[in-house]
Amino acid sequence: MQVIQTVTELRAALKNQAQGINQTKVALVPTMGNLHAGHIHLVEIAKQHAQCVVVSIFVNPLQFGPNEDLANYPRTLEADCEKLTAAGADIVFTPSVNEVYPDVSYLNPDGVNLNQTMTITTPPIANELCGASRPGHFDGVATIVLKLFNMVMPNIAVFGKKDFQQLFIIRELVKQFNLPIEIVAGETVREANGLAMSSRNGYLTPAQKNEAALMQQCLKHIVSRIQHGDTDFAALIQSAAQTLNENGWLVDYVSLRSALTLAPATAHDQQLVVLAAAKLGNTRLIDNVDFLR
Ligand code: PAJ
Repeated sequence: MQVIQTVTELRAALKNQAQGINQTKVALVPTMGNLHAGHIHLVEIAKQHAQCVVVSIFVNPLQFGPNEDLANYPRTLEADCEKLTAAGADIVFTPSVNEVYPDVSYLNPDGVNLNQTMTITTPPIANELCGASRPGHFDGVATIVLKLFNMVMPNIAVFGKKDFQQLFIIRELVKQFNLPIEIVAGETVREANGLAMSSRNGYLTPAQKNEAALMQQCLKHIVSRIQHGDTDFAALIQSAAQTLNENGWLVDYVSLRSALTLAPATAHDQQLVVLAAAKLGNTRLIDNVDFLR
């Protein structure tokens, strides 16, 4: 497995990989590192689709808000590389911020950072759900993902359903910008108690990790009620939010949407997704369950 920091070296390595093998398919798994079994699941899916698997590890400053955990985001490159070697990744791409955003070094005469970064403007759906409390987050995600696509030029890219809204926006990015890349979705990998794996789970105490299973239980309860014919979506959502709040969570949203469009669910939708975001202590957790009625 090669660990590469620059786009020039990446392109040379990819060219090398392609030599000798007819029609090498390249798969990209974009990550921010601190890898867990959820990320590795995506690498395994990528291996099923391509001969060359590139995993990017880049903590993207553009998708963090001013009061978010950019500075404290866990950086564990050595352990990540061990896991990726074991999983059979071919290339780990770990560019610096300057490599990805050379424009941040544009300085005006006072030495003030002018930030000339050109970004993607995401559609209004990106301002709902997680976007409502994280303004600009999905612009930052779409921008880095487009950059990574241009750097790696993969045939396939694998993303997790754990970040359902992110997956939706990336599918739109590919569709609306006519990118010749197949997006493959990986199921959410969970802890034994149902908690969706996340790099941010490391912020939780052991007691909070137990309590955190409640979010998944609330979502599954909504799914079960709807599949048994309950059509009072508003009451189901309200009751789940209340349960979380009563158990010490600070609920951002619980929402039932069309899994196809992410528009609020209607009585006609068959493919649904119930999504939630809430804070447990200082840690913001998200989860979702997609299902058929
Ligand atoms: P990160 O949070 O590191 O996640 C990288 C990928 O792993 C995403 O596609 C995410 O949905 C997936 N993932 C995370 N937890 C998972 C789980 N428990 N089961 C399955 N897949 C899981 O998402 C990002 O990074 C960034 O926004 C990124 C796309 C890399 C752009 O910076």
